[in-house]
Amino acid sequence: MTKPRDNTQHADATRCIHSGEDRHGQSAPLTTPIVQTSVFVVPDVEGLRRYAKGDSGEYLYSRYGNPTVTAVEEKMAALEGAEAALATSSGMAAEMVAVLAACQAGDEIVSMLDVYGGTVKLFEQVLPRCGIKVRFVPHRDIKNADRYFSRKTRMMFLESPTNPTLRCVDLAALCELGRKRKACVVVDNTFATPVLQKPLELGADMVIHSATKYLGGHSDLTAGVLAGSKKWMDAARAMMILAGGCVDPGCAYLLLRGLKTLHVRVERACRNALRIAETLQQHPKVARVYYPGLPNHEAHEVARRQMKDFGMMVSFDLRSGGRAAERFIDSLKLWYLAPSLGGVESTVSYPVLTSHIGLSTKQLELLGVSAATVRLSVGIEDADDLIGDMDQALRQA
Ligand SMILES: Cc1ncc(COP(=O)(O)O)c(C=O)c1O
Repeated sequence: MTKPRDNTQHADATRCIHSGEDRHGQSAPLTTPIVQTSVFVVPDVEGLRRYAKGDSGEYLYSRYGNPTVTAVEEKMAALEGAEAALATSSGMAAEMVAVLAACQAGDEIVSMLDVYGGTVKLFEQVLPRCGIKVRFVPHRDIKNADRYFSRKTRMMFLESPTNPTLRCVDLAALCELGRKRKACVVVDNTFATPVLQKPLELGADMVIHSATKYLGGHSDLTAGVLAGSKKWMDAARAMMILAGGCVDPGCAYLLLRGLKTLHVRVERACRNALRIAETLQQHPKVARVYYPGLPNHEAHEVARRQMKDFGMMVSFDLRSGGRAAERFIDSLKLWYLAPSLGGVESTVSYPVLTSHIGLSTKQLELLGVSAATVRLSVGIEDADDLIGDMDQALRQA
């Protein structure tokens, strides 16, 4: 194994390209190869002994570690400012591994209610079967999050900005609370990416990502990432190895390639998103726009403090309700209707029929979502083209 170069003195744009990857040496490939193998040859029995002791720094079996996967992990550790990172088969696998690393039967988790729908289902439907109870904090009660802790709380789970109304919580303050209560603070940083927000610097213990979204960036892979201290990542890797949530080397290569352009994609998409949010805000058919970059967004000041820019997601409510939202979505020509986000292509999603399907009216109300709510994942196309298409679709709405 060659040692990757040290990029600690470099900025994120440079780390996206160079961290975790070595391009030196005679006839070295400029890109990291896909090491497409499930297993590695050991030179001799002494080699097996060294591996068992954990001091060989070599590879044995791809579920435990693989050079292409290591490159992703080192790049992500550099971007999140972490001691170590772990790549997983999906964002959900990253969450499960984080929970298994920090909690056991009898423990409790305090989680924001506004987290990704799949996370809510994992916490409500799966963790109780393992004896882990989750207490959800509604957004309006976030200032009283302390009240949701008990002697048994081992983890606090946060997400900012949230889906789809892009609420932002004060991560530094909540991390301090978690630390005071001796809980492991986990932040889902999927919507912000490490280019815009670094939760570990704000006091979090672990960061998780659905790498399926912006990190991959091209809607062509499913993966997850965790980052944090070496201690937490060792614990998480031990769980990942036994739970089997490893990422395939081919997928790791795609993720590595996507990460190289993360910085420029984020910069361009943030610029597009602000223009789109400002345009929507002026439109007579639009009742409300959710974008933290707008000065009237409830979390504008928090977002300004803890993020470098305001993100690539924009949501809005149509004045005439659900029927108008459906007509708008069906009239779009350039924006694809697709229930994911974070790709180079702009996509639209309809939360009440996707991420928030099956929730009661009361639950939707707590989350600030209605049938009139449309969510946009802004890509890197020409902003005028995107706005032009939205404009014609709004005329049909
Ligand atoms: C914020 C957030 N976290 C986690 C996940 C789960 O990630 P994955 O679909 O890669 O398992 C998603 C997926 O939509 C997400 O949006």
